[in-house]
Amino acid sequence: MADEQPGLFGELNPPPAIIPSAPPYKSGTPFLPGLKAGEGYPDIKDCQELQAMARGCQRCILRSTCRQVVFGTGSLECGIMFVGEGPGKDEDEQGVPFVGRAGQLLDKILTAAEFDRPEVYITNVVKCRPPGNRLPNPDEVKACRVYLEAQIRLLQPRLIVCLGSAATQAIIDPKARISQVRGRWFARAGIRIMATYHPAALLRNPDYKRPVWEDFKLIRDEYRGTGGQSSAKE
Ligand code: URA
Repeated sequence: MADEQPGLFGELNPPPAIIPSAPPYKSGTPFLPGLKAGEGYPDIKDCQELQAMARGCQRCILRSTCRQVVFGTGSLECGIMFVGEGPGKDEDEQGVPFVGRAGQLLDKILTAAEFDRPEVYITNVVKCRPPGNRLPNPDEVKACRVYLEAQIRLLQPRLIVCLGSAATQAIIDPKARISQVRGRWFARAGIRIMATYHPAALLRNPDYKRPVWEDFKLIRDEYRGTGGQSSAKE
């Protein structure tokens, strides 16, 4: 995949132990693939303000059918961001990402990898529930990615973990296939990115348990800065 789209992202294997702290995306260049400079991501430095903006969003129809905007929860300073696909029924009711069955499994995986859920940041590619839990369509993803871009700019995470295909394609590469890219480190603008299977996929297919656990061990080690040595390629 990296060979097909040179420059979009660079692969790191193994990841570097030392993580740069001042990513160049502070400049005007959008972080997300396909997002053009000036496409309208809000340059807001305050998370509450950004959240309020999303609450009043009319960029797609989802805001008119969902109960509430599920923006994101967790520490803004933790340096790690987990990104899922979009809120389901439980999340729409509670206003918190990953609280249904898939969320409970994510909690278990986080605990096993020694992450404390309140101390990581969790969000989704789309912030409003697609009706009937359908997949967000490409126009909805496109409309909502300005908020994800703004969140990444605001939080400046060291690491981003893409949970499932929607996040992988929104963040790593629109053509990426999760089975091919999962478990590998990518780097863009000083941020390390890894994709792994979505917890809901694990509920459907227990064969994914082993690879997800392998991925989370790499994520944990990278977060702790014990992930090994390499020269960072971007
Ligand atoms: N699945 C997701 O992708 N996100 C949630 O918040 C819940 C389930």
